[in-house]
Amino acid sequence: MESLGVLMLHPFNAYLEQELDRRFRLHRFWEAPPGVPRDEFLRAHAGSIRAVVGNANYGADAALIDALPALEIVASFSVGIDRVDLAKCRDRGIRVTNTPDVLTDDVADLAVGLAIAVLRRIPQSDRYVRAGQWKAKGDYALTTRVRRFVSCLAIAKRADAFGCSISYHSRSEKPVPNYKFYGNVVDLAANCDVLIVACSLNVETYYIVNREVIDALGPEGVLINIGRGAHVDEPELVSALVEKRLGGAGLDVYENEPFVPEQLFGLDNVVLVPHVGSDTEETCRAMADLVLGNLEAHASNKPLLTPFSG
Ligand code: DGY
Repeated sequence: MESLGVLMLHPFNAYLEQELDRRFRLHRFWEAPPGVPRDEFLRAHAGSIRAVVGNANYGADAALIDALPALEIVASFSVGIDRVDLAKCRDRGIRVTNTPDVLTDDVADLAVGLAIAVLRRIPQSDRYVRAGQWKAKGDYALTTRVRRFVSCLAIAKRADAFGCSISYHSRSEKPVPNYKFYGNVVDLAANCDVLIVACSLNVETYYIVNREVIDALGPEGVLINIGRGAHVDEPELVSALVEKRLGGAGLDVYENEPFVPEQLFGLDNVVLVPHVGSDTEETCRAMADLVLGNLEAHASNKPLLTPFSG
């Protein structure tokens, strides 16, 4: 049987790249010779590309799908597949897989870690010690107790251990015992100290954190975003932080990654990390194995391991 032709969009994981190369016929999109337009590269290989492997930032958009007439499956190395044109995949009968569940714990760890880093000012303390300022400690700013959290269950489980009282907003009708439900995000923000955004990006959640929500969170409030940059009105977030209308933020995701608004660099009340929620050895290996397993299942007509079921 002819080996499956796979187009990997970016070198985001060395193990995955190596295994794709070993098990399939791999085309590396980033290896298009400089100056060769993307269309030309695709035209040269289009006939043999039956699978695309992307991730949270590199997806199969309409133009890519249109350029690949033999495309049968998009296997994303991510749980979020907001960069995949799902409508087009549906029309063309292209299968879509993602990597659910295996990254939940690591992303939840980072969400809580960011909240603690912002509230307890861990990066600032580190800079303080490195700058040799500890000797005096006279001007050392006191930090804030880790109090109330809000967010998804994996995060809530961790926040429970800190004695936080947990509130949440969700579209799911299923009530979560012991946690307080709010019917809208503004009321939720007005009643919590730390607001953690952990949902998928779609038309309903685009800019779900807008000026009204930020104002409801207020100058003592902290926003943590481990979802997608476009969940938050970023220019509004930046202004609120600069003007101290919002107390602080811990951000793993940004609206136009890898671009991070430069005004944030000078602010002491933010902790910035480069979309690394799932970036542990263990999770990346598990995600890569799911991508590989899905492609192998597709190539041998077996049921997919994790078909996207959005
Ligand atoms: C995903 O897999 O969608 C996450 O953004 C990774 O952090």
